[in-house]
Parts: sequence; C-alpha cells; structure tokens
Amino acid sequence: MKSVLENNPVLAKQVAEVAEVAGYLWQKGWAERNGGNITINITDVIDDEIRSLKPISDKVQIGICLPNLKGCYFYCKGTNKRMRDLARWPMENGSIIRICSDCSSYEIVADQPVPPTSELPSHLSMHNYLIGSGSSYKAAIHTHPIDLVAMTHNPAFLKKDVLTNLLWSMIPETRAFCPKGLGIIPYALPSSLELADATVKELAEYDVVMWEKHGVCAVGENVMEAFDMVDTLSKSAQIYMTAKSMGFEPTGMSAVKMEELKVAFNLPK
Ligand code: 13P
Ligand code: ZN
Repeated sequence: MKSVLENNPVLAKQVAEVAEVAGYLWQKGWAERNGGNITINITDVIDDEIRSLKPISDKVQIGICLPNLKGCYFYCKGTNKRMRDLARWPMENGSIIRICSDCSSYEIVADQPVPPTSELPSHLSMHNYLIGSGSSYKAAIHTHPIDLVAMTHNPAFLKKDVLTNLLWSMIPETRAFCPKGLGIIPYALPSSLELADATVKELAEYDVVMWEKHGVCAVGENVMEAFDMVDTLSKSAQIYMTAKSMGFEPTGMSAVKMEELKVAFNLPK
C-alpha cells in the first residue's frame, strides 16, 4: 500500500523521529502495552496531495472546540497501539488527522483508518494552547516513566515545585535542560476533558507536567526535545532513588549553587 510519506520527505523524517522516540519509550520501560501517546503538528509540512485527500473515516467529535486548530493536520499514535510496534511501523500504528472547519471534530486522511489516541482531547488542547500563545512547539508526548510516577505517590511531592526543586538539585543538567521544572496536575480520569483542561492551564508555566499517579506530558519544538526533557527529569529521579536505596538522603545542590546556575545559563526561573 502506498504511503503519503513517499512523496513528502520532510513529513517522512518527522514521522521517523516519532518512531525513533517511540522505541526509546519502550526501551526505557515507560511504555507498557499501549501506554503513552505522541502527537505532532504537521500542518507546516502538508503538501497539496495530502490536502486534497478524501477522509477515510467519519467525522469524529473531539468533545471540545479548539479554534486555533481549524484545518490543522496531526500525526497521532493510534489508541490501543503499542509504542514498540509504532517504532517499526508508524503508519500502521498511527494516522494523520485533519481538524474540520467546525474546530470540534476531526477526520482521518491517511494512511489507514487507525483511530487516534484516547488522550486526543489533552493532546489537541495542548497544541491549541501552543498556537494561541505564539509558541513554535510542534510536539506533545505523554508517557509513563516509572521513577517519576512513583514519586507522585508521596503527597509531600505533590505540593507546588517541591519535586521541581528536588529534581533540579540532583544534577545541574536538569535545571539547565528542563528550566521550567515539572508542573503537577492532581489525579483526573485518563482521557477526560477535565484532565485536558488542567494540562493546558499548567502549560502556561511548565513544559513538562505530571499527571498524578499516571504519567507525564511534555511539549517541545520537536518530539526529540520533548523526550529529552522527560529523560533528564527521570535521570534526576533515579539519582534521588539510588541515593535513598544506598541508605542516605541526598544533600542536593545548595540554593546558592542553584542560583549561580540560573544566572550563568540565563534560565527563566
Ligand atoms: P492510548 O492507547 O489510547 O494512546 O492510551 C494510552 C495511555 O497512556 C492513556 O493515558
Ligand atoms: Zn497514560
């Protein structure tokens, strides 16, 4: 079967990057079964051939109106599809959708009628927010990192910026490469509009947000950058847990050292 990627090398490269990251998520142990999802806004790289494609699905309601997404195109992981399968066959385990002119429904246009992720309300709300705020970010990832999710089972870590400061203080790179820290979103039902709403509110302040006892969402310029931020935070969580399992409380970098880093790297917070 012919793929729309064949005549569009730029789009093919972006989808290949999603597949590469999907493989990393599986290797990390963050993507059990169908766990996690990735979407990228591909509107900028859509050609006339794709624009003229007839829908291969019915119109499906998103459940919310997202005015900035009218006519936009997204590559989305399919619901119930495995990251480890997507890593090898991205167009069989994901699809390209077009947002309809009513801004509240979508149709699948290529390659196969694979229904998009159940977290579509959250993903599309994030993309709608990013466009509305003038951001150039195009990628959104949701994944289930074991260490970071485990930390949300401690109520002390759920208070604003407690986890951010703890993770920043484990290794200088985390503050430098995830400079906005980790936002916390109280538990809400997976795939719910309530979760989508809370996610978007938190994105005003953070690039990575934690869904309590579930997983993280990260946004970035591209899928690799979004992945890197989660990977960096997870590294800090592992350093913390390794120290704890050696029987001591890690000291963490001092407030003075953290401030020094902020100034030296011109960091936002
Ligand atoms: P999907 O298979 O629908 O993408 O769901 C996975 C998931 O992680 C839900 O939160
Ligand atoms: Zn999930």
